[in-house]
Amino acid sequence: MSNQNHSFALTTPLYYVNDVPHIGSAYTTIVADAMARYQRLRGNSVLFITGTDEHGQKIQRTAAQRGIPPQEHCDQIITSFTQLWQKLNIQYDRFSRTTSKSHHQIVIEFFQRVWDQGDIYQDQQKGWYCVACEEFKEERELIDDHYCAIHTNKQAEWRDELNYFFRLSKYQQQLEAFYESQPEFIQPESRRNEVLNFVKQGLQDFSISRLNVDWGFPLPTDPQQTIYVWFDALLGYVTALLEPDDEPTLANALAHWWPINLHLIGKDILRFHAIYWPAMLLSVGLPLPKRVFGHGFLTKDGQKMGKSLGNTLDPFALVDRYNSDAIRYYFLKEIELGKDGDFNETRFINVVNADLANDLGNLLNRTLGMFNKYVHPGGEICLTGAIVAEDNPLKLLGLDLSQQVFARYEVLSFNFGCELILNLVRASNKYIDDTAPWRLYKEGQQGKVEEVLYCVLESIRLSAYLFSPIVPNLSNAIYKQLGFFLDFNDKTLLNQLIDSHAHTQWGTLKVNTNLSKPQPVFSRLELPHPESI
Ligand code: MSP
Repeated sequence: MSNQNHSFALTTPLYYVNDVPHIGSAYTTIVADAMARYQRLRGNSVLFITGTDEHGQKIQRTAAQRGIPPQEHCDQIITSFTQLWQKLNIQYDRFSRTTSKSHHQIVIEFFQRVWDQGDIYQDQQKGWYCVACEEFKEERELIDDHYCAIHTNKQAEWRDELNYFFRLSKYQQQLEAFYESQPEFIQPESRRNEVLNFVKQGLQDFSISRLNVDWGFPLPTDPQQTIYVWFDALLGYVTALLEPDDEPTLANALAHWWPINLHLIGKDILRFHAIYWPAMLLSVGLPLPKRVFGHGFLTKDGQKMGKSLGNTLDPFALVDRYNSDAIRYYFLKEIELGKDGDFNETRFINVVNADLANDLGNLLNRTLGMFNKYVHPGGEICLTGAIVAEDNPLKLLGLDLSQQVFARYEVLSFNFGCELILNLVRASNKYIDDTAPWRLYKEGQQGKVEEVLYCVLESIRLSAYLFSPIVPNLSNAIYKQLGFFLDFNDKTLLNQLIDSHAHTQWGTLKVNTNLSKPQPVFSRLELPHPESI
């Protein structure tokens, strides 16, 4: 399973700072972190970008309601994002803020290049604007009384003002040719079809400036206006590519990591990433990103959870009550990326306990316990080089498991990847029950006892390795008990390991590995008592 080293740059959306992060923002970031960890595990150089989108009317209004200057508001809110990412064990490399000085320089330079192409002109903008989406809506996209279909408690507002427009229509054919030649650009397939249908209806130019919004960068050619928050925010991905000491120029930003390999986003912002963004890049003659993946929504009672709707779960409370691995696991294993998924706390607890505490954690505990008893009673536990039969069921399952799981992770199919690993874990439990090592021991079949226990421990090791992008702390705990000093939270460790490839293979656990005494690796989750909530 050779893997040439590549570089891989990926992004989450830059989150609006109208409020502290909610579980929906955490969802995108957890998925991106799993992908970044998977890419690192394969030995690739990774640049994982996240950050915040801080301009525009929505933020301006929120700050005004709080009675503080918008910059102060943004500075306060972003700390809750960085804290949450730390609690969820998110290992990002860059945090891009759209109010940074370097970003301002990048936006000015980019705007000028689009302007020089003749792709910006002035016209009257009339239409319904949803401030929560920061987007003009067609009448048909709104529900009764001009309420937004996504933010069903927010009414779109009528606008009629002189703005600057970007000539999106000019790029219709180039975009269509691009989608045709790069079918994997928009994923999943259903989202790609949505975009293709939308584009087929004919693209219309869109306004990239605002007249009565002060909180934004002034338009270089007309400082009465500010740059539209989305034109500004998408460029935050470019600014993030600058090295800390770089002069903030486009040439510097684009020197190493461009084009970005993956923009991970929610389905509500697909149009911006799959249509507007590539058109802006075509205008200045830049290569286009490789992939945009639009995932589904986390819902509560069938409705999108959102800050504007006020029906969110507090991710801080959740991670404090349980633990980061549990939350990461639930979102990645239980929800098919691309589909909507409901979060239900009881189901969350049941799934995590069944898979991680029982099937995996107890299995390790039980098997190490048996090792202690049947192989090295009372002493240091060592593997003694069990001979494994060619047709051992766990070996057969384990042999090409990494290849299969990696193929799923590659396409962000984390739930299928997890299911494949769980097959091995469940087969290991069944194998113990079927072979009954306690009986084999009594019958004096020592070689067979060792084979059974070796095969189970090795299957647990491989499972922990393959689960590491999802539940890195649990993988660490398991590896430690199996006598390895490998820290899955160390971003550089796997690149330094000479034999990192060996870990992908079933059969890596060697004779005379020092195993630890069994200790629980994952504590069962409990629903809190009603009075403590
Ligand atoms: N600021 C823009 C993105 C600019 S990127 C250059 C934005 N921010 S957001 O904070 O409103 O949303 C960020 C992401 O969170 C989006 O991908 C959105 O789909 C996602 N989610 C917001 N609510 C969500 C759920 N309830 N479920 C899943 N993801 C959700 O849009």
